[in-house]
Parts: sequence; structure tokens; C-alpha cells
Amino acid sequence: MDKSDIEAIKGIVGERRCSTRVAELYSYGFDASIHHRSPEIVVQPSCTDHVSQILRLANAKRIPVLARGGGTGLCGSAVPLEGGIVLDMTRMNSIKEIRVEDLYCVVQAGVIYDKLMEALAPFKFSIPTAPGSGEACTMGGMIATNASGMRAIKYGAMRDYVLGLEVVLASGEVIHVGTRTLKNSSGYQLERLFVGSEGTLGVITEATLRIVPKAKKAAMILAAFDTLELAGKCVSRIIAKPLIPSAIELMDSTCIKAVNKTVRAGFPDVEALCMIEVDGEPETVEKEAAMVQQICREVGATGVELSSDPKQMAKWTYGRKSIMSSLSRFGAGFVSVSLADDMAVPISKIPEAVVAFQAIAKDNGVIVGTYGHAADGNLHTKMLLDPTSEDHWQRGEKAVGEIFDAVISLGGTVTGEHGVGISKAPYMRKERPEALETMRSLKRAMDPNNILNPGKMMDWEGSIIRKLRYPCEKYER
Ligand code: LAC
Ligand code: ZN
Repeated sequence: MDKSDIEAIKGIVGERRCSTRVAELYSYGFDASIHHRSPEIVVQPSCTDHVSQILRLANAKRIPVLARGGGTGLCGSAVPLEGGIVLDMTRMNSIKEIRVEDLYCVVQAGVIYDKLMEALAPFKFSIPTAPGSGEACTMGGMIATNASGMRAIKYGAMRDYVLGLEVVLASGEVIHVGTRTLKNSSGYQLERLFVGSEGTLGVITEATLRIVPKAKKAAMILAAFDTLELAGKCVSRIIAKPLIPSAIELMDSTCIKAVNKTVRAGFPDVEALCMIEVDGEPETVEKEAAMVQQICREVGATGVELSSDPKQMAKWTYGRKSIMSSLSRFGAGFVSVSLADDMAVPISKIPEAVVAFQAIAKDNGVIVGTYGHAADGNLHTKMLLDPTSEDHWQRGEKAVGEIFDAVISLGGTVTGEHGVGISKAPYMRKERPEALETMRSLKRAMDPNNILNPGKMMDWEGSIIRKLRYPCEKYER
């Protein structure tokens, strides 16, 4: 990228909307993963035409381009691995339409999830995927990673809400895929192709998203168990009843201690907790809450608490949402890093999976906090390590490999909701060897000059412990 490219970009978006200042480039080199690389320019487009013109230029000059939302991703999808241009999409933040009578809304890619929920609330509608990073993550980023969160068991992930998209292709051409209708059998479901594509096939600029009515009432049950395995067993007993709660969050004693210490979550200090949420019509909530409590007791819960007080439920939810940040303050000198952080297994395999994770942590001498959206089989592990220690990274890396092998052997996936990026790339290849060539063919067809978020997913080579954001000599940039 040379001076004339920078001048040309300034000419497209205006001088005030781009930066080449070292400090800013450095900041835009992060997402929430373990990786870092500074771009060469940061650009804030304010319309689709800006994105289109920039891509046209980048394609002609073979400059890498990466679209970035809130930067909350945990596996490096928003780290500009090969430098080039970062498109900060957060200025494209307009909610263009809310049409409750047609069950959809139209938003620009940079709209923040919580802001959209605030706008939908007066209509009593929402998109209840409930990501942990809702305060900061953008709809474009959520679509690009097929993000979800606590409520996916009942309400699905982003792929279930994308009706249509406006996308700028690598060539700069703007296309509209999908529809505004709830049903659509009109050829290839191209809108789905961009879900989970992590910016490698095109830049999402606008989305037509399905919306659903908000539940009238909710209640939560907090059930304590003597082992994580037993808590895991409780999850599939509830589902198999059959009873589909709006969420079941699982947490181990490391996570419980961390949130009690740092945000005073007030959870009982036990080996394992299930935080179960049921929602719907008031009578249904009451009935299902009673059923859940009974199942928890049958499975062997040592304590069961019920609440439908919004304040108490908000406190528990806040405690749960604070696990990730709290883990970093758990032990002096240790930080929580996103390694093996969001795998998913068939729901009934959760007990086996958590037992395997605990054994792997012990064998490798690493501290692992295990929690997650257990109702849909999605588990998080965060490793606590000293990020300046080569030995810690080596042990962490070995544990990651073993955790992913366990997950794959249980019929699971290495990523349920955060995406592949860098941190899961080698393991995605292991998980889906038969899909790789098709993925590469699609990438070549849609981005022949390989300018869109290059070097990630199926194209990442080697170990994941590279290009670290932390000062550890062996693994630094
Ligand atoms: C959460 C993020 C890590 O569930 O997905 O907290
Ligand atoms: Zn999560």
C-alpha cells in the first residue's frame, strides 16, 4: 500500500474518516482474541458507496481489507493478519426500518445489538440471541460469525434471523441477496453463505432481520450440584422431558468463585451450578419452573432456588455475563485467554465433555474455567495463564489440542458461536476435512485476488499460538 492509495482512500471517505496514526493502527490491530497485527490504515465508511469504492481500489491494487464491527470477537476474525485496510463499520449504525406487522427490521451493519433491542422493545419485539457482548457487538459482526448466546436453545442463532443482506463483493459490486419475506425458496440461499463467512467473501453493509415477539414473563432456577458432571446430566434430563427452557447456563467452581469475588454475584459457593431460565405466558412459566425444580432435585441438586423477581434475575444474569472478565482477576499474574473457548457437543454428551476437560486441565497443569450455554451443548473454557511464560503457552496449546480432539470425538464442533478466525483454524480443518476444498473454491470464486480478510480459517497455516498480543518473545509478532 503506497501513499497514493492512502490519498485515494482519503478522497473517498474524507480525511477525518481515516487514520494512519500509529496509536490508532495499534488499537485497531486487536479484537478480544489472543492475536494482534496493526493495519496500515483505518477507515470509517458512512455508506455502502464508500465501502464499494474502497473495495474497488483495494481489489485493483491487491490490498487486504477487513471489515470490523465492535471488535468483541474471541478468535481473531477481526485481526488484520496481513495489514492493509480496516473498515470500521460502526458509523453505519442506522436502524432503517422496523416492521412488526411483517416481522422484520432493516439495519446497517454497524448497529449495536443492545441498541437494536432497545429500539424493538417498545413494540414488544426482539432478536433474542442474547450475546454476552451485546453492549458492544454489531449486527454485521454477529452475522459474519453466526453469533448467538444464552438463548439459542429456544431462539436460535443469527443464521435463523437473516432474511436478506446487502453485501459489497471483492470487486466493489453491491448485491442484494435473500428477501424480506419469512419464506423463500428462490434459488440458492446466498444470504446464508455470508453467515459465518467472517468477512472472507464480501462485506456485509445492511441486513433484513427477522424479529420475534418478546416473552411476557420469565423465571430462573439456580440449581447447585456436587459435580460438574451431574450438572451436565441435569441439562439433558430437562431437554428430554421434553422441556425447552430459554436458557441453561452451566458454571464450574472456578467461574463461581471468580464472579463472586469480582462482581459479588452472590452465587452459592459450590462445585457446579445450572442457571435455568424459562419464559413465555405466565401460566407456562409457572408450570415449567416447577417441572425444572423437580428434575433438578431428582438428578441430585443439593440446593434449588427459584426467582421471578426481575432484579434478582438481572443480578444472576450479570454474574453469568461477568465470568469471562472476572476470570482474569482470579489469580495474580494470570489472565484468562480464549483458548478452546466455544466448542459445542450434542447435548447428551455434556457430562462426558466436562469430565474430559477437567482431566485434560489436570494432566497439563493448566487452570481451566468451564461454563457455557449448556442447553444447546455450547461450552466455554477459558485458560488462566501467565501470558509472558513460554511454558504456559506450550501447556495451554497442548491442552487446547486435547480438548478439541475430545470434542470432535464426541461428535461436536470446535466452535459453536464465536467463529474460526485464527484460534480455531487448524482444528476446523481437522473437524471438517471434506468441506475444505469446497470452502476454498468458494473463496477463490468470490475473491480471486484474496483481498478479503486473507490468511484466516482454511488458509491459516501452523499452530494457533502465533502473532500473540502478549509480550512473550517466542510467539510475538
Ligand atoms: C459468553 C461468551 C464468552 O458466553 O460467549 O460469555
Ligand atoms: Zn457464549
